[in-house]
Amino acid sequence: MDSADVAGANVAHVGTGDADDTILLVGAGRMGGAMLDGWLARGVAGSRIAVLDTQPSDALLRSCRQHGVALNPPVAHPVNTLLLAVKPQGLDAAAPGIEPWAGPNTAVVSILAGRTLADLAAKFPRAAGCVRAMPNLPASVGRGATGIAGDGRLPEPALTRVERWLGAVGLVERLDHEDQIDVVTAISGSGPAYVFLLAEALAEAGVRLGLPPDLAARLGRATVEGAGEMMHRHADLAPAALRQNVTSPGGTTAAALAVLMADGALADLLAAAAGAAHRRARELAG
Ligand SMILES: NC(=O)c1ccc[n+]([C@@H]2O[C@H](COP(=O)([O-])OP(=O)(O)OC[C@H]3O[C@@H](n4cnc5c(N)ncnc54)[C@H](OP(=O)(O)O)[C@@H]3O)[C@@H](O)[C@H]2O)c1
Repeated sequence: MDSADVAGANVAHVGTGDADDTILLVGAGRMGGAMLDGWLARGVAGSRIAVLDTQPSDALLRSCRQHGVALNPPVAHPVNTLLLAVKPQGLDAAAPGIEPWAGPNTAVVSILAGRTLADLAAKFPRAAGCVRAMPNLPASVGRGATGIAGDGRLPEPALTRVERWLGAVGLVERLDHEDQIDVVTAISGSGPAYVFLLAEALAEAGVRLGLPPDLAARLGRATVEGAGEMMHRHADLAPAALRQNVTSPGGTTAAALAVLMADGALADLLAAAAGAAHRRARELAG
């Protein structure tokens, strides 16, 4: 079955049925695809979702067929939420074809790096309002962290709907100002790479202390995975409390932390790293 068949089977439901909660996902690549998977895994009815993608993968075709998601349908009715997940440079070409999906009750949500709220409002003038969102890649395993900044025009129920869609793949936090999107980019957007580097650095330290590289790599990786899982399961405890719980006075962990925390060593290093990411995010946003 090709994408046209899939679309034909479901297009009638898009923008109708549960009229309060329909979504059009534009671009089902890494990030958009992760969100679609998150919605479907949570049992969202496929009839409430439509997807536009220029070159749908076999996996996307299968998933849409299995769950009754309309893939590349012709415009039916404006949707409640329109989620843009194409590459930032693809927006200008894509916008005219998408605009008919955005009516006076539509929230336009963009995860596109560097595309401003003003930019979005100009491209979707009939929309109820626009939201910029910055997710991160752990969304692909349902553990994302997303910051959102709205343009102040959307009524609360529409904003709550946006949070619900994005929340299917992890934490969603509202921001006070659009400028904070660049900070979110530097902290949680780029942050997974910092944590992967921590696993690498732990392994490197093990090698320097005499372990075989493969063994050190396995230990570094399992340690970061395990610590992350503990934070997840003990959401009631602050990271500092978890750290203190595993730090006996005068013990080995305390000896290491004395180095990492001496004069804010690690905190300063991370602040400098995130500062560089923040500057770069602002440069890229023009
Ligand atoms: N990946 C991340 O960690 C991350 C984090 C935060 C934000 N973002 C943002 O998320 C956006 C998408 O990133 P990504 O990594 O998911 O990119 P990606 O994997 O390249 O996905 C983009 C998808 O959109 C499709 N597409 C392109 N033009 C289209 C159009 N006119 N209509 C419909 N579909 C179209 C692409 O198809 P083709 O392959 O045919 O071009 C592709 O499947 C970017 O704007 C990025 O700034 C990404």
